[in-house]
Amino acid sequence: MPHGRTHHPARGRLTMIAQRKSRPIPHRPKVLVIHGPNLNLLGDREPDVYGRTTLADIDRDLLDLAAELGLDLETFQSNSEGVLVDRIQAARRSTDALIINPAAYTHTSVAIRDAILGIGVPCIEVHLSNVYKREPFRHHSTIADIAVGRIMGFGADSYMIALRAAKNLIAAAPARANG
Ligand code: DQA
Repeated sequence: MPHGRTHHPARGRLTMIAQRKSRPIPHRPKVLVIHGPNLNLLGDREPDVYGRTTLADIDRDLLDLAAELGLDLETFQSNSEGVLVDRIQAARRSTDALIINPAAYTHTSVAIRDAILGIGVPCIEVHLSNVYKREPFRHHSTIADIAVGRIMGFGADSYMIALRAAKNLIAAAPARANG
C-alpha cells in the first residue's frame, strides 16, 4: 500500500454507487453580452435617442430571458477599448456566442474587430438606435462584415432579439454546446 493511502472498502462502495447514479451534467450554452463606452449612462444619457431604460434594467431582463431559454449569460461593460479587448479574448473557448454593442467603438475600433476574429466565436452586433437614421459617421461599423447579423433600432429590445437569435444560432451549430 503506498504511503498515505489506506484501503477504505466502504468509501469504494460509496464511490461506485455515486458513479452509477450520476448522469452527465448537460452543458448549458454560454452567451456573453458586452456593452461598450457610455452605455453605463443609459437611462440618463440622451433619453430621446436611447430611452429611459438603464443598463441594469437591460442586464436584468437579459438574465431573465437567458434563464427562460436555458442559457448561461454573463454581461460586461467597459468604457475602455483595451479592457473590452481583454474581455473578448477571455471568452475564447468558453463562450458559444457573443452579443456586442461596441457603442462609439463600433465606428473606429480595429482592435475590437481583431479580437472578435481572434476568438472565433459567432458574434451578433447590437445597437439601441438605428444608426442609419443618424449622423453619417455612425453608418460605418468595423464589425458589420464579421458579425453573423446586426440588430438595431429597437431600443433595449435589440438585446432581447439578439439573445433569441443567439439561442437559435447555437442550436443550429452546436459545436461547443454539445461537445
Ligand atoms: C450605439 C450607437 C453608437 O453610434 C453610439 O456611439 C452609442 C450607442 C447604440 O446602441 O445605438 O454609444 O451603439
